[in-house]
Amino acid sequence: MISKIHFLAKNSHKSAVNLCVRHLRSQIQYIAHAKDPPDAGEKAENLTHFGFESIREDEKAGKVHKVFEDVAQSYDLMNDVLSMGIHRLWKDAFMEELGPTPGTKLLDMAGGTGDIAFRFLKYLANIKNPEKKESHLTIGDINEHMLNYKFCTLAHAKDPPDAGEKAENLTHFGFESIREDEKAGKVHKVFEDVAQSYDLMNDVLSMGIHRLWKDAFMEELGPTPGTKLLDMAGGTAANCRVDWVCADAENLPFDSNTFTAYTIAFGIRNCTHIDRVLSEAHRVLAPGGRFLCLEFSHLPNETLQKIYDRYSFEMIPPLGQIFAGQWQHYQYLVESIRRFPRQENFTQMIRSAGFSHVTHRDLTFGISAIHSGFKFQ
Ligand SMILES: C[S@@+](CC[C@H](N)C(=O)[O-])C[C@H]1O[C@@H](n2cnc3c(N)ncnc32)[C@H](O)[C@@H]1O
Repeated sequence: MISKIHFLAKNSHKSAVNLCVRHLRSQIQYIAHAKDPPDAGEKAENLTHFGFESIREDEKAGKVHKVFEDVAQSYDLMNDVLSMGIHRLWKDAFMEELGPTPGTKLLDMAGGTGDIAFRFLKYLANIKNPEKKESHLTIGDINEHMLNYKFCTLAHAKDPPDAGEKAENLTHFGFESIREDEKAGKVHKVFEDVAQSYDLMNDVLSMGIHRLWKDAFMEELGPTPGTKLLDMAGGTAANCRVDWVCADAENLPFDSNTFTAYTIAFGIRNCTHIDRVLSEAHRVLAPGGRFLCLEFSHLPNETLQKIYDRYSFEMIPPLGQIFAGQWQHYQYLVESIRRFPRQENFTQMIRSAGFSHVTHRDLTFGISAIHSGFKFQ
């Protein structure tokens, strides 16, 4: 939290003139490009788009890498600021839509800071798993700066037993004195009974403050790539193996027919070849596996789209400058959203990659949408 505040303070002194010039520039680009159709010419010349800019295909991955390298630190904060927290509801809806069961083998591509991954683990932790089936989560992202480790640890302070208790092999269970050999069973019963409501009650009882403590706890640990962490008393963790992999969604380092589910949230828009991402997703999914994509989309209602465009082009780049010191990258964000195919076109692309039963569901009037498909062969 403290480092976030430092971060904001560091970036808030940019000159007002600079802000105005950038704002004007974004307005001009908005007027010039907001209505551009996707370029047929780009394909012929091996060009692609980076926001509203036309660039060579081989330049795009590097430019996207730079965007996410620069915004990685402020990524979670900015998501909250720009969407007024709504991205959390979209991601919750996305996980509800997937509805994973114990034993799921999920590949979450473009996993970034783990928002979908953590929801997956939480979802599994909150459903019954009497057969103790192990699930498997692989989080893949092309950018090592975005992949980070945010596991929350539930650390429980424990006072030493008092002298009297030690002598008699007694210990305490709350204010009660009990035999040492009774304690583990009693504690087990407590957590068995509260497991389902554990996360909710933590929020209710601490008014959400436990999240800040756990964030501060992880900041204090500051794990680096390669850390092998043993999180004891890990609490509401699912029976799930987790791997983090630095990988390109267009060229996956996995065998065919490996996963039972593939998710990609707010990632596919940034890839150079959407068709390659879809065909790789299809390849690594096992027959019966499900593809689920959460992505910014288009509002079918023209008036709402205009209001949303105004907000996006006039507010998002300045907010990106104020909170993250990154005007251009947030300008790219807005432009890349406008360039992404409309729901019907994207549905067709998913079908062309070989998926069946392809459907989509708009969220918040179509600001974003969930696309779903199944691999049947
Ligand atoms: C907007 S973030 C989304 C992160 C996360 N899924 C979420 O919902 O918060 C987009 C992510 O896509 C990743 N990305 C961009 N191009 C990629 C590619 N070709 N392969 C894998 N990941 C990619 C970026 O590094 C970034 O972490």
